[in-house]
Amino acid sequence: MTVREIRQKVYAVGTNHWDRRLFDELIPLPDGTSYNSYLIMGSEKTALIDAVDPAKQNELIDNLTKINISKIDYVISNHAEQDHSGGIPKVLETYPMARVVTNPKCKEFLMEHLLIPEEKFLVVNDNGTISLGNRTLQFIIAPWVHWPETMLTYLKEEKILFPCDLFGSHLATSDLYSTDEAKVYESAKRYYAEIMMPFRKNIQKHIARLVEFELDIIAPSHGPVHNKPEFILSAYKDWISDNTKNEIVFPYVSMHGSVEKMAEYFIDAVMKRNITIKPFNLTKTDNGELAMALVDAATVVIGTPTVLTGPHPAAVYAAYLCNALRPKTKFISIIGSYGWGGKMPEKLKELTSNLNVELIPPVIVRGYPKASDFQALDTLADSILEKHKGIGIIG
Ligand code: FEO
Repeated sequence: MTVREIRQKVYAVGTNHWDRRLFDELIPLPDGTSYNSYLIMGSEKTALIDAVDPAKQNELIDNLTKINISKIDYVISNHAEQDHSGGIPKVLETYPMARVVTNPKCKEFLMEHLLIPEEKFLVVNDNGTISLGNRTLQFIIAPWVHWPETMLTYLKEEKILFPCDLFGSHLATSDLYSTDEAKVYESAKRYYAEIMMPFRKNIQKHIARLVEFELDIIAPSHGPVHNKPEFILSAYKDWISDNTKNEIVFPYVSMHGSVEKMAEYFIDAVMKRNITIKPFNLTKTDNGELAMALVDAATVVIGTPTVLTGPHPAAVYAAYLCNALRPKTKFISIIGSYGWGGKMPEKLKELTSNLNVELIPPVIVRGYPKASDFQALDTLADSILEKHKGIGIIG
């Protein structure tokens, strides 16, 4: 990838992975991704911030060669996950005098996962600094953005924050900066939902702390660089807030048409009450879209038939995902059907036990829905409306 200078002698030297379509064998990547790495040259020392995924490590070395980098003194490792650290051994092989600068926990992870020898490390702590001569790097320990060892790096003189995963987006683009704000907003929100949302409370504290730092540029290690930091900061402040919107996320699956009929009726009932609903037929859903919808919604309703006494496996997966992502949802309910018995609602409640939600009484029907079942769906829609009014999200 082309090397670009974002400030004098501060270069973006990372790579795009245009056609990667799955991350961690779990997260869909409709727009590919990038592994950003930054080279900072001071009057005395040179530092590389984050490396890249091993699949692209040769491109990183090529980029450093293109700008005639003959020595690297420090490799700053903000995060041990391999999309940022996997290229470090290759960098150390190419620049044997370099030392890996990181915090104690990240050092432990890098030694365990990448077998980097202990003597290669220079350990820093919260607020610690290293001098590059005329430039200074400051380290902000910020656990759980995305793993427990994560930290942020701040280049004081240029007011650039390098937050690694935080404020990033899985978006391969030729744009260096977030110029297409609508696209970047969408990608960054999806990324937040998939990676950061479980750690919302930690991120609230880290972002509150950033007021101590003047920020001209936020340069994450995925997606474009934010040269207008307020754009991404205000988006994050909205996503991490405790406020929810007048929205229902409705993942559902139907086998023989009963849940499908209930879903159609329920969607209309909700729309008549001017509540936004986002249905996801789980046999056709991109789970990233489902995760993104969970960022704002006040209510989740899961729709499923009963299979072998429990929920359909697709509904189990959706419930597990909601539970793991820990959205700020306030209410949950279930609609579904059964043929002769089972414990489907109980099992779904167990699967969502992490969520701090109030359960609105489910609507469970035997066989195909009948007039009284449609009335029950209207009652459920009314209850959701009242609950949303009760928390002040309907004017
Ligand atoms: Fe981009 Fe948590 O790694």
